[in-house]
Amino acid sequence: MVERLFSYDEVESTNDIAKKMINILTNGDVVWTLKQKNGRGKGERTWYSPEGGLWFSIIFKPLSISQDPNIYTKVVSVATVKILKKIGIDKAGTKWPNDIYYEQKKLGGILTEILHHGNEKIVIVGVGLNVNNSLTEDLPDAISLKEIAGKNFDLSHLLQMIYSESMRLYNFVTQGHRNVITNLWRNSLIIKRGSKVKLVGSGGDQIVTIVRIFSDSIVVEHNGIKERVRPSEISIS
Ligand code: BTN
Repeated sequence: MVERLFSYDEVESTNDIAKKMINILTNGDVVWTLKQKNGRGKGERTWYSPEGGLWFSIIFKPLSISQDPNIYTKVVSVATVKILKKIGIDKAGTKWPNDIYYEQKKLGGILTEILHHGNEKIVIVGVGLNVNNSLTEDLPDAISLKEIAGKNFDLSHLLQMIYSESMRLYNFVTQGHRNVITNLWRNSLIIKRGSKVKLVGSGGDQIVTIVRIFSDSIVVEHNGIKERVRPSEISIS
């Protein structure tokens, strides 16, 4: 159960609210809203957040920041995928490192921000999941749980389940077992070693094969040549 839940009908962005509340937030607090006026995605993009979706941020206050800052994103994305599978969305998976996918369509995303507050480090992991909400035509690659399952889901229940699993997995990080999370995350990826994907580059797109997946990069092979690329250069649609 979420111990301290700050819930709102509408805010600009749960990550931004969390930043404003930084003085009072403690480890495991959650900021949840029914809709966002200015939801933010990665790379300064706006995140469409109408009523019906699940928009929240979990606060972690680690004693020291992990050497792999992506670990917090991985914890929550692995937890989200596990819960999605539990409610029957079998083909849910992660796409490196912050997207939640269903086959080739984006179901949700995670925006992790790390703040330094005095001597403390505060990690805000914002989760956006298309649940019962509609999607606009300019998001052709997005999908919602309702579209997949043909029914509505209880947002509060979903939040509780994702939260509980995230906190359970976060314990592995605090106990020094980051490798457990990294392995779970690797298994949750929708692209695996051997998958053929599109490498989007300035010289045009090309189909490449995934050779290895690291925490911060992916090695791909094309015509016998191996190349290390950024995960954002890979497209699966
Ligand atoms: C992405 O895939 O670009 C990340 C999207 C993250 C959206 C969530 S919704 C809750 C939290 N508040 C925000 O403003 N963004 C994140």
